[in-house]
Amino acid sequence: MKNNIPFVIAIDGPAGSGKGTIAKKISTKLNYHYLDSGAIYRVIAYAAKKKNINTESIEELINLVKHLKIEFFENNEWLNGNKVSEFIRVESIGKLASQIAIHDKLRTLLLEYQRSFCKPPGLVAEGRDMASVVFPNANLKIYLSASVDERAKRRYKQLISKGNDVNLSDLAHEIKLRDKRDKDREVSPLVIVKEAYVIETDNLNETETVNKILSLFDKEKRC
Ligand code: C5P
Repeated sequence: MKNNIPFVIAIDGPAGSGKGTIAKKISTKLNYHYLDSGAIYRVIAYAAKKKNINTESIEELINLVKHLKIEFFENNEWLNGNKVSEFIRVESIGKLASQIAIHDKLRTLLLEYQRSFCKPPGLVAEGRDMASVVFPNANLKIYLSASVDERAKRRYKQLISKGNDVNLSDLAHEIKLRDKRDKDREVSPLVIVKEAYVIETDNLNETETVNKILSLFDKEKRC
């Protein structure tokens, strides 16, 4: 941190690339704040589903979001005071989140909230547009990548361990669709910005990936 300005690490990547686990570990190691931007879209999707909101109607979505209180504490996500972590981590909500995430007005409305996480000594922010839109001046930009098969296997293990009944090839199919939606959308698509370090994680375990990012962090800090 120079002059009390928070150091920002932006980590982007496709669904199942391991951003969540990696970003959380790095924020813990550095004692930095943490932003899981995907969780914001998931909580909104969950709220929209519960209230039977038409997710194609931006007016209905904006009206919904203005009345939502989304909070992160005790390692959980909270909606209007209720813990919703386990409900938002299912595939159907991930899919709905990527459908509502195409709305430009909604994304703009969420910018200020996401940026409010940026506090000293620093922030690790993960999502799809952290480096490109939300924190374009981030000090370190990482793009985590992995093949569809590897990401489907990781998701499969994660969901099975939580007791969900899932099928590997369905997951791979869902991941491909989500990649397409996230990369092809007009607003804030998932892109690799030119300053980003691209880390291919098919053959790396979590510790190796975390260490790679920490060594890039040390290098950037020294600059
Ligand atoms: O990262 P996660 O899978 O939880 O994100 C759920 C969905 O939310 C993504 O598929 C994506 O469409 C959307 N999202 C987004 N921008 C972000 C984070 C997530 O559009 N910064």
